[in-house]
Amino acid sequence: MIVRDAAPGDLPAVAAIYTHYVLRTTVTFNTHVMTPREWTQRYTTSVAEGPYHLLVAEREQQVVGYVETQRFRPKPAYDRSLELSVYVAPDEGGQGVGGALYAALFARLAATEFHRAYAVVALPNDASVRFHERWGFVHRGTLTEAGHKFGRYLDVAYYERAL
Ligand SMILES: CC(C)(COP(=O)(O)OP(=O)(O)OC[C@H]1O[C@@H](n2cnc3c(N)ncnc32)[C@H](O)[C@@H]1OP(=O)(O)O)[C@@H](O)C(=O)NCCC(=O)NCCS
Repeated sequence: MIVRDAAPGDLPAVAAIYTHYVLRTTVTFNTHVMTPREWTQRYTTSVAEGPYHLLVAEREQQVVGYVETQRFRPKPAYDRSLELSVYVAPDEGGQGVGGALYAALFARLAATEFHRAYAVVALPNDASVRFHERWGFVHRGTLTEAGHKFGRYLDVAYYERAL
């Protein structure tokens, strides 16, 4: 398995992984499927032109997971904070893909001015909670019933890691 910067040609595979979690799970609060145009726009304005990241894990020429960084909040004082999103293909979990993505990402972030990384985890998501704790994230608080998806309210936990 290799981890590399995503190219525009990876966006359909990245979108396919994310769409699974949008449509079938509550691990993301998104409820609509992002269009190819939305993926391209996000990639162009925040990754290709910087300063954010989209890395893919590839095994046998198949994208099996990805991690992206995005702005944490809009206001300028948040410039040095970012939010992480990591998604592994549904049949590829628990095999080190997420860990390989985070290892590569944190190596890159070490050379940047980013200061804090946040994972915003919709609950319940035991795999993500354990995964982030294993990667040194600290639980900073949980908002109760902040989300509503598939007819029920959902809590969301904030995990923080110093960079
Ligand atoms: C969370 C996720 C990214 C972890 O990636 P992964 O490739 O499965 O994780 P790894 O194989 O690298 O495992 C690293 C650690 O994560 C934890 N973990 C991974 N899968 C787990 C599971 N099913 N249950 C509990 N812990 C799990 C473990 O602590 C594991 O370390 P260990 O095996 O030494 O105990 C992946 O499971 C995933 O994509 N889940 C669905 C999407 C999602 O929830 N994304 C995060 C949104 S906040």
